[in-house]
Amino acid sequence: MPKVLEVKIPDIGDFAEVAVIEVMVKPGDTVKPEDPLITLESDKATMDVPSPAGGQVKDVRLKVGDKVAQGTLILLLETAQAPEAPAAPAKPAPKAEPAAAAPATKPAAPPRAAPAPAAEAPVPEPGMRASGFATDLPPPPGQGEEVNAPPPVVLMPGPAEMVAAVIGGSRSHASPSVRRFARELGVDVAKVRGTGPKGRISKEDVQSFIKAVMAGARPAGGGLDIIAWPKVDFSKFGSIEAQPLSRIRKIAGANLARNWVMIPHVTQFDEADITGLERYRVALNKAHEKDGIKVTVLAFLIKAAVEALKKFPEFNSSLDGESLVIKHYYHIGFAADTPNGLMVPVIHNADRKSLLELARDAAELASKAREGKLQLAEMQSGCFSISSLGGIGGTLFTPIINAPEVAILGVSRAEMKQKWDGKRFAPRLMLPLSLSYDHRVIDGASGARFTTFFAQALASLAPAAEGGAPKRGRKAAKSRNAARKAAKKKSKKR
Ligand code: COA
Repeated sequence: MPKVLEVKIPDIGDFAEVAVIEVMVKPGDTVKPEDPLITLESDKATMDVPSPAGGQVKDVRLKVGDKVAQGTLILLLETAQAPEAPAAPAKPAPKAEPAAAAPATKPAAPPRAAPAPAAEAPVPEPGMRASGFATDLPPPPGQGEEVNAPPPVVLMPGPAEMVAAVIGGSRSHASPSVRRFARELGVDVAKVRGTGPKGRISKEDVQSFIKAVMAGARPAGGGLDIIAWPKVDFSKFGSIEAQPLSRIRKIAGANLARNWVMIPHVTQFDEADITGLERYRVALNKAHEKDGIKVTVLAFLIKAAVEALKKFPEFNSSLDGESLVIKHYYHIGFAADTPNGLMVPVIHNADRKSLLELARDAAELASKAREGKLQLAEMQSGCFSISSLGGIGGTLFTPIINAPEVAILGVSRAEMKQKWDGKRFAPRLMLPLSLSYDHRVIDGASGARFTTFFAQALASLAPAAEGGAPKRGRKAAKSRNAARKAAKKKSKKR
C-alpha cells in the first residue's frame, strides 16, 4: 500500500539559514532513492539533498531562494515501500574534498545494524554523497516521516557526506548533481566557466562548454587553458551593425592578447618635470620654423629613452628561453594611431640621430603608418617602445609590452602642477609616465630607477638656462632669445 513520506532537510550541521539554489523535481516526477531533490548552498559549500526513497513526488514545498534548516519540509513523496537498506554504512567524504568547507559535521545517527568496518565502507566519490539508509531504525527527528502511518525508517546522510563542492580557492563551484552530470559527459568542471551567482556552474554551463569544444574552440597556446569566447546574439537586445575588423587590427589584437596573457606586466608610474624642456622645445620650433620641421615631445622621449637604455641594459633585452639577449643597438618603436588601428613604426639607430632627425623620422614614419605605406623593415627589430597619448589626453595608463621587447613607456598629457621646491610651491609642467615592464626580466627597483633616471635625462635635454621656472619681463625676454639661439646650436649638434 502506498505511503506518503514527508521528506525533510536532514542534519546539515549548525546551519539555520541555508539557501535553496536549485529544485530538481516537481509534482508528478518519479524519483529513485538517492536522486537529488534540491541543492542547498551555504557560504562555504553546496550540497544536494537526495531522496530517501523511490516514489512519486506529490507536492514540493520549497522554491529557489527559500532559506532552510534541519527539519524544513522539502516535499511529500508517495512511496510503494520503505527505503532499502544500504550495502554498507556511509563513510564520511574524504577530508581533502569537502572537509575544509563543510559545515560542522555532526556524526550521523549510528545504524543499529552491525556496520561494516569503516575501512571497508564505500568511499564516496568526490562530488557524490554517500548513501546511509537503514530499515530498522526510526528516522532521526525532522527527516522522512510518513503521514498518517507508522513512520518508515529513513537515515539520511550526514553533512560531511553531502557536501561535495568547495567554493573558493582553485575549486570549481558546482553542485554535486552538476558535477555528476559533467562527469558522465567526461567534462572536467574545473575547465567550465560558471555563469551563475558567485560563478556557480550550471548544467547549461557544462552543455555550453561541450558545444564550444565541439565547435572547435581550443585552449590558447603557451599552456593556458582559456575557455571559449561567449557567443552572444546582440541583435536580441537592440539594433546592431557588424563591422569586419581590419587586417591590422586582427594582427595587432592577436599580438596584444598574447603579450598581455604571457608577460607578467608591472607598470611603474612617475612624472617628469618638463617645464624647461617645453620652453626649449617651443624655442627650438621657432628657430626651425622655416625648415618645416616640428619637434614634438616624442623626439625628446626617444632621446631620453636611449640614454636610459644605455644606463639600464636589461631594458634593452629580450628573453630567449633560458637566456637574456642584451642588445647593443637602439631601435626605438613608437605607437602610431592610424585609421586602421595601432601600428608601431621603428626608428632605427636612434642613438646616432639628432633631435631634429628623430623628429623628422618620427613624423615621416607616422604619416606612412597612417597612409598604410610602412615597409616591413620599418616595423621590425624594435628594442623598446614608446606610446605617447599626450597629444590626445588622459592621465596615466598601462601600456602592453610589445614582445619580444621587455618594456614600454606610456606617456600622457603634460599638466601644470604646483610643486614644492623646498621653499615654496612653484608651477611646473609635469609629464606623466607609465612604464610597463616584464617582471620576469626586470625587478621593481629597476623599474623605479629607470623612470627616475628617464625623467632626469629628459629634463637635461633642455639647456641649463631653460631648466628653471618661467621668467617674466625684459630680462626674461633676453634670456628666451639666448635660449632660442642656444636651441638652434644645440639641435644641430645633437
Ligand atoms: N603633453 C602635452 N601635449 C602633448 C604631448 C604631451 N605629452 N604630446 C604631444 N603633445 C602635443 C604636441 O605638442 C602637439 O601640440 P601642438 O600641435 O600644439 O604643437 C599635439 O599634442 C599633437 O601631437 P601629436 O600629433 O600627438 O604628436 P607627437 O609627436 O607627440 O605624437 C604620434 C606622434 C604618432 C605618437 C601620435 O600622433 C600618435 O599616434 N599617438 C597615439 C599613440 C597610440 O595610439 N598609443 C596607444 C597605443 S596602445
